[in-house]
Amino acid sequence: MSAVSPVPERTQVAIVGAGPAGLMLSHLLRLRGVDAVVLEARPRERVETRQRAGILEHGTVEALREVGADARMDAQGLPHDGFEVRFSGRGVRVDMQELTGERVMIWAQTEVTKDLIALRLVQGEPLLFDAEVLAVEDVETDAPRVRYRHDGREHVLHADVVVGADGSYGPARRAIPERLVRRFERIYPYSWLGILADVAPSSHELIYARGRTGFALASMRSPTVTRAYIQVPNGADAADWADEAIWDELSVRFALDDGSFTLARGPVTDKSVTPMRSMVTEPMRHGRLFLAGDAAHIVPPTGAKGLNLAVADVRVLAEALGEWFATKDETLIDAYSDSALRRVWRASHFSWTMTTMLHVDPDGDPFDERLALSHLHLIEASESARRALAENYRGFALGAL
Ligand code: PHB
Repeated sequence: MSAVSPVPERTQVAIVGAGPAGLMLSHLLRLRGVDAVVLEARPRERVETRQRAGILEHGTVEALREVGADARMDAQGLPHDGFEVRFSGRGVRVDMQELTGERVMIWAQTEVTKDLIALRLVQGEPLLFDAEVLAVEDVETDAPRVRYRHDGREHVLHADVVVGADGSYGPARRAIPERLVRRFERIYPYSWLGILADVAPSSHELIYARGRTGFALASMRSPTVTRAYIQVPNGADAADWADEAIWDELSVRFALDDGSFTLARGPVTDKSVTPMRSMVTEPMRHGRLFLAGDAAHIVPPTGAKGLNLAVADVRVLAEALGEWFATKDETLIDAYSDSALRRVWRASHFSWTMTTMLHVDPDGDPFDERLALSHLHLIEASESARRALAENYRGFALGAL
């Protein structure tokens, strides 16, 4: 299924990538009277079925409301007031609502993407799937362009500005000369094996567990669909894990000393391995090219920040581009990279904290293990520590960092 709206040869903003960042940006720009064309290399159905995290910060929910992609989220999304951190056979609840006055929404990225695509197509705004970008050119001039292939032919899209929202392996960021970019990276020594299962969640809130044999996360997609993850060694193959072995491992890692927790098992419908890494590209702009979302930064999924960072990037960028197109004032577009990066580094630090606190590195330094446990004890003992965790988890308002 490949939906095609008419694509002009010229637009104000050429957006490379129809993930949440690119799609959300196209909608926010439209509300500010700015034209955009979205080009996506993959077929529509692939974009719509990619399994990613599903926790929306308050600001992300607000953005979905602003663009009018909130009806299904409000009907089917699950607002959560808190989550649980589990370790050493006991659990600590982090009550976000009480500690910060805000909550988060459980609503899968796949669903967010579907709604943003449907809205764009209903509006008759240009969005082209199966459009492989070959090169982003002349971004140092005021007439950048994007060369792409679609239906076996090459096309050129001329624009005032190009936005690279095409993920960490996409072509857009190659338009920035290597000598002008600094890339920061951290590869974690473990991956996540994730499952979807047709069974009601065993807990009504998410559980982040540092189990005896490693990390586990209990999440959900709906009142009848469980999403769960376990830490596995890098290079693990999902095919080597029998369903029962995954459930057994989840049971061990979520076990409570008082025996009060039982994990409900059900048919596993999806199984995949995600590596854990962090990457930040600085700056997020070169001339008329702006990077947003995974094209500029990757966080490990432990803090559930990937989608939220992508949406925050484009909220800042839409405001900046709207202002620039309206007045030619460059103040906001000049501030974009620095202001986005402040949030990116906050999320990178938070994701690192959650990751190292909750995972077990079998070859790691025992000193680090003791520090991780000490941090968990602090969260258990101190309301301020829980508040700091809750503030980071529910996310910071635009401009607050
Ligand atoms: C998910 O539901 O897929 C999920 C939730 C929270 C995370 C990561 C993934 O931190």
